[in-house]
Amino acid sequence: MGWIVVISGGPGGPQYITEIARKKAQEAEVLIGSKLQLQSVMPKKDQTVYEETSIERIMELIDEHRAKKTAVMVTGDAGIYSLSQKIIDRFGKDAVKEVVPGVSSIQVAFARIKEPWLNVRVFSFHGRPLEGLEKVLEHERVAILCDREHNSKVILRKLMDYGLLKGKREIYVCQELTLPEERVIKIGSPEDVKMIEVKGREIVVILSIRD
Ligand SMILES: C[S@@+](CC[C@H](N)C(=O)[O-])C[C@H]1O[C@@H](n2cnc3c(N)ncnc32)[C@H](O)[C@@H]1O
Repeated sequence: MGWIVVISGGPGGPQYITEIARKKAQEAEVLIGSKLQLQSVMPKKDQTVYEETSIERIMELIDEHRAKKTAVMVTGDAGIYSLSQKIIDRFGKDAVKEVVPGVSSIQVAFARIKEPWLNVRVFSFHGRPLEGLEKVLEHERVAILCDREHNSKVILRKLMDYGLLKGKREIYVCQELTLPEERVIKIGSPEDVKMIEVKGREIVVILSIRD
């Protein structure tokens, strides 16, 4: 039946990958992941390992290894804005033997600011156009996944045009979570936005404050 194991690799820091994820990764005949993910799971010598981040190439590799137990590592948790969904769309649910859950970068962001992630509306502009960005401000508790182009600065500048700083809100930029360069920046003014040094991995959190 299924030959693919999707493994949630956590937000990046090796201490945030679960024991079961590491075990499942080491048990696979073929293991695909980013450099950071592969370093975290410490592959065995007899495994065929591919360091790969191109989605198209990952799909090809999965297809080429139909006869082998193939593990694919995905960022954070496989259940939210994940390559996992693309794999299922392409190969079908039956092709996937197992999805191993993990720690999402969104969970870490909320832990860092000491807030629950109940009723949080998650938006992703990772590889997506900024269409509908203004809708973010209609929600009380929001997490926005960014990317290098649609980074925290670009997104916050646009949201300021839509009135972000006019309402009572707590705003945070959470960068490189669980990694050595981790930073959580509280934003309260246009000057704070100007000062942001953007990073490759960023989540913007916006919380409305009730009177
Ligand atoms: C394709 S989404 C994957 C989200 C993933 N499924 C999860 O649960 O974290 C990638 C985005 O997640 C966020 N992200 C992932 N790892 C992160 C980290 N260590 N620090 C901050 N944001 C991170 C960034 O917004 C990044 O562009």
